[in-house]
Amino acid sequence: MYYHKPVMPAEVLKYLAVTADNVYIDCTTGEGGHSELILKNYKVKQLICIEQDKELLRIAEKRLKEYSNVLFINGNFNDLKNIVIDHKIRKIDGLLFDLGLSMFHYKGSSKGFSFEQDVKLDMRLNPSIKVSAYDIINLYSDQELRKTIWAYGEERWTNLIVKQIVKKRARAHIRTTGELRNLIEETVPRKFWKKGLHPATRTFQALRIAVNQELFNLEEVLKDSIKVLSKNGRIAVISYHSLEDRIVKNFFRLYSKGYDDTGMEHQDNKGILKVLTKKPIKADAGEIRNNRSARSAKLRCAQLIKG
Ligand SMILES: C[S@@+](CC[C@H](N)C(=O)[O-])C[C@H]1O[C@@H](n2cnc3c(N)ncnc32)[C@H](O)[C@@H]1O
Repeated sequence: MYYHKPVMPAEVLKYLAVTADNVYIDCTTGEGGHSELILKNYKVKQLICIEQDKELLRIAEKRLKEYSNVLFINGNFNDLKNIVIDHKIRKIDGLLFDLGLSMFHYKGSSKGFSFEQDVKLDMRLNPSIKVSAYDIINLYSDQELRKTIWAYGEERWTNLIVKQIVKKRARAHIRTTGELRNLIEETVPRKFWKKGLHPATRTFQALRIAVNQELFNLEEVLKDSIKVLSKNGRIAVISYHSLEDRIVKNFFRLYSKGYDDTGMEHQDNKGILKVLTKKPIKADAGEIRNNRSARSAKLRCAQLIKG
């Protein structure tokens, strides 16, 4: 059974300009939703499926077993350059990044991504990651904890939440997602709970981003994308929160216009990319009705003009 519906399926095929005989990399394969879409609709020369979570990659492998033109790689996309070299991939026509987590992580895994489950605080997408959510909550100084929750969750109740975490962990470590969720529910006054947004959402988001170094990985891989992509190849990125979207938007601007949002000029970068989505593409109302994760999705796409 597959939990995850690929977001903006038609738009992804359109903006990636998927064409038979070309080579694509799905850098965030998950359960293989977008990959299946590509393989079903086009006889591509090769599709490389990268996924950090071994368990999920296995699901994708099973799902796509009828296709012989797929290469599965269990790894981090921030290793893209080495993956391309090691596997002697000489031509890449499109890179797809569908960021964040799969529905499987929230519903089917027990790694503690969801506050709706009561399991161990972990959140590591890959067992080689050293610092877990448990470590952050229990071992970070209150200052580091504040910085993490504020920077990656933009949580306006950060100070109060951290104060309560520090108080609670002095008595006994906070071990489960349930304990953390209850603490946040007791800390944020109910009259300030936002409709449709559980008060623990932003803290959980911050922990997940910090544990898996999501923003750092994204910044790194975007730079490498330019190095590995063939001329006229495309980068399509679907992001789910403003922190990710800002990185993508700024990166595309830097490599098309030659300046970033600090206004600093980088003439050497000018004209390397052509931005194909002036504004981010969003899912339409029909898709959002059928797929809640499409609500916050934003798709941006750019084409490599100068390699
Ligand atoms: C939104 S899901 C992808 C869903 C997929 N497009 C589909 O339609 O089924 C994002 C996936 O990216 C994976 N992921 C996140 N960061 C990664 C990274 N740095 N390297 C490789 N995979 C990563 C997650 O484990 C997750 O399975």
